[in-house]
Amino acid sequence: MAAFVVQGGKRLEGEHTLQGAKNSALPILAATVATKSVCVIRHCPRLTDVDATLRILRHLGCAVHREGSDVTVDASTLCEDTIPAALMREMRSSIIFLGPLLSATGRAVLTAPGGCEIGLRPIDLHLEAMEALGVEVKAQGGALRCSAGKGLRGARVSLSFPSVGATENLMIAAATAQGITVLTNAAREPEIYDLAAFLNRCGARIHGAGEGVLVIEGVERLHGAAHRVIPDRIAAVTFLGAAAITGGELLLQNVSLEHMDAALSVLEQGGCRLRRFGKDRLELKMSARLRHFPTVRTMPYPGFPTDAQAAVMALACVAQGTSIITETIFENRFKHVNELVRMGAHIRVEGRVAVVEGIRRLRGAAVDACDLRAGAALVVAGLAAEGETVVSGARHVDRGCERLEEDLARLGASIRREEEKDERQKET
Ligand code: EPZ
Repeated sequence: MAAFVVQGGKRLEGEHTLQGAKNSALPILAATVATKSVCVIRHCPRLTDVDATLRILRHLGCAVHREGSDVTVDASTLCEDTIPAALMREMRSSIIFLGPLLSATGRAVLTAPGGCEIGLRPIDLHLEAMEALGVEVKAQGGALRCSAGKGLRGARVSLSFPSVGATENLMIAAATAQGITVLTNAAREPEIYDLAAFLNRCGARIHGAGEGVLVIEGVERLHGAAHRVIPDRIAAVTFLGAAAITGGELLLQNVSLEHMDAALSVLEQGGCRLRRFGKDRLELKMSARLRHFPTVRTMPYPGFPTDAQAAVMALACVAQGTSIITETIFENRFKHVNELVRMGAHIRVEGRVAVVEGIRRLRGAAVDACDLRAGAALVVAGLAAEGETVVSGARHVDRGCERLEEDLARLGASIRREEEKDERQKET
């Protein structure tokens, strides 16, 4: 297994162009199934989660071709409605194929993706939304057999929580349902807006994406389209944090500034000097030590994103003063705390609240990336630590960060990827 080896203390400086958003590319690639046509998805990041999605598309009978950051999916050859457990388990968000398969075939047989490092990740909201559209869900032998016997029918649906994935599944299934669907308490993330933009390009009639209420007029069928995925707002925070924690300077290109108000406001609280250029360029300069983050509280969009929580905690570890970070979205998203403490951080966790007392410098250590965002945060922490930090489990980071070590090295970081010796080799 691979690890990142980081020598701390190098100041980052330079320009970085952001990758396409993982959490936009995944649902849009899945949604191509509902078009049963040819779609071209541009600005698709090179990530293992994207690779897993392409494997599922091929398993379903779609022809998939990747050229640089463009992915062409021909879903006209779709011939499967079942996703085997092995493919479902490869990527937690594979549940996003539920709506597309029901739309395209009226059936979907898949297994619950199960929990992951950050929480139980139930799918009750997804299933309730599908049942509201007339889908029958049967749990049989570990698999979920879903069928829309008489076809998908529009309905009024209210989500008890603005679940991103449940909103996406409902949007895709309702796009070709008979009649109108009204979804209240819908998720409002930019990735929802991007998915709706893609579906509307394919002939769907989705109104209100990005607002709390979605109105979807079902159409007979969808056709193919080309679409460019929005930039990754979470990767933006990783790179801004890397520059900030090393007292550096960064010019970020291809950033969707309109989607980052809450995250940028937190970085400015910490003393980051930000200058916005137009809609898609952002300069960060760090002249003094980071200041503490009085209250960071993760919330559904447009609140502070839970996916940026670990990166901000890494900054808080070396900020001047004490920061309070509250994780309200996932029940187990502080796995990076123990690893940061191994690097000398002063962090106390009480339930969903982490109290971080900033210290001058972290010390390099061998730490473990237990999930994607925690891993990226540990790399950020290692950039400013005294000595060498080895972040094992690079595979978690590869799920969501494209070429992280190459891009950070290009900005001046001393970082390399190293294949980890397995236990036996270590003993010899
Ligand atoms: C999406 O996950 C993202 N993943 C997550 O990013 C992100 O953290 C999350 O939205 C919140 O913004 C993708 O888009 C692929 P949710 P999703 O449904 O859709 C509970 C990353 O690191 N819930 O909004 O799974 C759930 O347990 C990943 O890129 C139910 O109770 O998130 C959680 O507490 C991590 N029942 C909360 O809602 C359900 O049926 C938010 O989940 C569904 C969700």
